[in-house]
Amino acid sequence: MARETVTAIILSAGKGTRMKSRLPKVLHKIAGRPMLGHVLSVVSELPNARSVLVVGPDMEEVATYAKGLAPDTGIAVQAEQLGTAHAALMAQSEISEREGVVLVIFGDTPLMHPETLADMANTCREEADIVVLGFRPTDPAAYGRLVLDEAGRLQKIVEFKDASAPERAITLCNGGAMAVRAEYLFDLLSKVGNDNAAGEFYLPDIVGLARSQGLTCRVQEGEEEEVQGVNSRADLAAAEAVMQRRLRQAAMAGGATLTDPDSVYFSFDTVLGQDVVVGQNVVFGPGVKVADGAMIKPFSHLEGAIVAADAEIGPFARIRPGSSIGTGAKIGNFVETKKAEIEEGAKVSHLSYIGDARVGAHANIGAGTITCNYDGYNKFFTDIGAGAFVGSNSALVAPVKIGDGAYLGSGSVITKDVTPDALAFTRPKQIEKSGWAATFRAKNESPDKNTKD
Ligand code: UD1
Ligand code: MG
Repeated sequence: MARETVTAIILSAGKGTRMKSRLPKVLHKIAGRPMLGHVLSVVSELPNARSVLVVGPDMEEVATYAKGLAPDTGIAVQAEQLGTAHAALMAQSEISEREGVVLVIFGDTPLMHPETLADMANTCREEADIVVLGFRPTDPAAYGRLVLDEAGRLQKIVEFKDASAPERAITLCNGGAMAVRAEYLFDLLSKVGNDNAAGEFYLPDIVGLARSQGLTCRVQEGEEEEVQGVNSRADLAAAEAVMQRRLRQAAMAGGATLTDPDSVYFSFDTVLGQDVVVGQNVVFGPGVKVADGAMIKPFSHLEGAIVAADAEIGPFARIRPGSSIGTGAKIGNFVETKKAEIEEGAKVSHLSYIGDARVGAHANIGAGTITCNYDGYNKFFTDIGAGAFVGSNSALVAPVKIGDGAYLGSGSVITKDVTPDALAFTRPKQIEKSGWAATFRAKNESPDKNTKD
């Protein structure tokens, strides 16, 4: 039998005015990925699940992003922000089945664990018609309060603005997420009114309505950290901190050494192999994979790059998108690579820019070498053969090809291809004038020198 479906309605129509941003709130990034991406990815981890996103009228950007990530995402538009129940109701047209479980979650709550939502969906499938994610915050502040009956069952949810003093004293709060049997959800939502302090259609009101129809409602308690929403830049930074802590722990649990974990910043998709050592103050932008035994030394920045086994990067290296650093290769201090294939055992040890290039296996690139890849309009490729030796302070003006095993003299500006095993250099002849310095000094230091200011 096919498993029952789970549909996650992700409410994201709120304007997010407190972010003070031109970017819609749910597109602000945490660990290199928009908040909404984290939420969609959590949903994708649930079996047989699909998302329906509720956006505001001017949020095509949000819809496009969601479709790009999960093409089967349904999009519903809430023209006016009349409240969370009204927003959830907008998803109705995108949900044809009235079977299975619907999760209602928020696009600005990116720290939810997939297990939490899976547990809620299971309970809703097997034991209850509605499951509400509750939590006990350190400061219950303005959260909705979960009111239990004498038997300890969830009776209703009261928004803080509408709560009486005894209700405000309740410490069990509404975390926002709910699982509801699909057959009841839209009927309940359509019965919600807006006769309350905010004049809004409150999603939590479906609990009281469900109880009055004899349906069962449960609370599943979660951690405060998971329900942490993002409303301001400060909240965004707090969510980033939680995500980074999780990513650091996962990296170490996977067998990487982080010398000073708190100073290392990961992206959501960073992959580290076993026995990778990451020094202090390393930043991983999106799209980095580091294979077993590689060492990323302090103060390096990597993005969109592959680092093969036992390679050494840094300290102070900048590995930009399209870089591939081969097995046992070495990229030293103040070296920048971009769209560069550094093959096995090659060394670029100091102060270089290698862009749009291949550096063949075991080639040695001297200090200060620059691939001149750009003429202001176009990019050109530099191909350096295996075992080549590029002398320090060389400029390789692309397009140019250096044959295998060739030597380039220091300080050369190489504009023409060099054949394998040749020596090429472009360097004026050295001139020596013997005794010149001594004569010069004597002249300038003599007491009767004409001193003028
Ligand atoms: C909501 C709950 C509250 C709970 C809290 C947990 C309601 C009425 N209250 O309050 O019980 O303790 O979450 O964080 O649900 N949205 C829309 N359209 C709207 C209104 C909101 O899409 O018309 C979206 C927002 O973009 C946001 C989410 O729904 O992603 C939650 O809305 P928000 O206004 O933040 O609800 P809270 O006041 O936090
Ligand atoms: Mg909120």
